[in-house]
Amino acid sequence: MKKIKLTIDGMEITADADANILDAAMENGIYIPHLCHHPDLKPVGACRMCEVEVGGRNVMSCLTPVADGLEVKTDTPAIRAARQMNAELLIANHHQECLSCGSSHHCELLRVADSVGVNGDRLMHLTPRAELLPIDTSNPFFKYDPNKCIACGICVRTCDEIVGLGVLSFIERGNRTVVGTFADKPFIESICESCGECVVRCPVGSLAPKRTIRPSHEVQTTCVYCGVGCGIYLGVKGDRVVSVRADGERPSNQGSLCVKGRFGYNFINHPDRLTTPLIKKDGEFVEATWDEALDLVAEKLAPYKGRQFAALASAKCTNEDNYLIQKFARAVMQTNTVDHCARL
Ligand code: FES
Repeated sequence: MKKIKLTIDGMEITADADANILDAAMENGIYIPHLCHHPDLKPVGACRMCEVEVGGRNVMSCLTPVADGLEVKTDTPAIRAARQMNAELLIANHHQECLSCGSSHHCELLRVADSVGVNGDRLMHLTPRAELLPIDTSNPFFKYDPNKCIACGICVRTCDEIVGLGVLSFIERGNRTVVGTFADKPFIESICESCGECVVRCPVGSLAPKRTIRPSHEVQTTCVYCGVGCGIYLGVKGDRVVSVRADGERPSNQGSLCVKGRFGYNFINHPDRLTTPLIKKDGEFVEATWDEALDLVAEKLAPYKGRQFAALASAKCTNEDNYLIQKFARAVMQTNTVDHCARL
């Protein structure tokens, strides 16, 4: 990729020749406030928070391509005033309960308000949204609170550009504009596949997972559900898996996941899960030791080696378990008839 040089606030930076000013700035560690821009999506210039000055004119940095020798100013009085006003209008129309919002630790609106400064007096005189809109909790994995929606359109574009389903669009007009499904139906009645791609990109927690336990650390691994090999980070707290995050560096999924990979991890620590072997005696399952169970299985399987035996592995086992079952089928049971439930 051809590189070009430009200056931002007097500092010379190098950028890809096809970048826009916002991406070039962020790439070089310069923060320009923004709300509707996401690196995975085409820029649309909807929030107007990213204004900068180029050649004496205010332009939106997410829509303006870089050019050799370009001089960009990100912090003039006119830009500060415009950004502050934009932020105040958005905050006035946003829900007022930041402290109880599960997304406040990664809310882009808070970050933007922090960086541009907000005039509290002026904010008091702006009219907040009149009525509270109902929160849609119909989806089993995430909820949608339209009162927090800032109409950045990131979820709409994610569903269009990345998922290719087009479940979401803008509904209503003016300061009543929010995102909704076709005919404003609950998510569960729409064609949404619950992949959660919109949820992980929502900058303000309007779309948010129902389970929100913050992990103490993450473990990089591969999703077991099918053969695509999506990279994931399992979030762990104590001895429990409490979250899943897509690995943006894995070529097979590039930061995306399906509903199973993203939300289908409750079974790991589910209280109904069997943790002790059971053996049927007189028509009843009774608890047994692992030695008893393994001896019984070995004795029963031994007569069925070769063509009489097939192994069906499970997506709810670890990758290591799945490796072992195919090894067991081939090396011990002498068959290549091995399959996995993900292909059903
Ligand atoms: Fe440029 Fe929203 S980030 S207009």
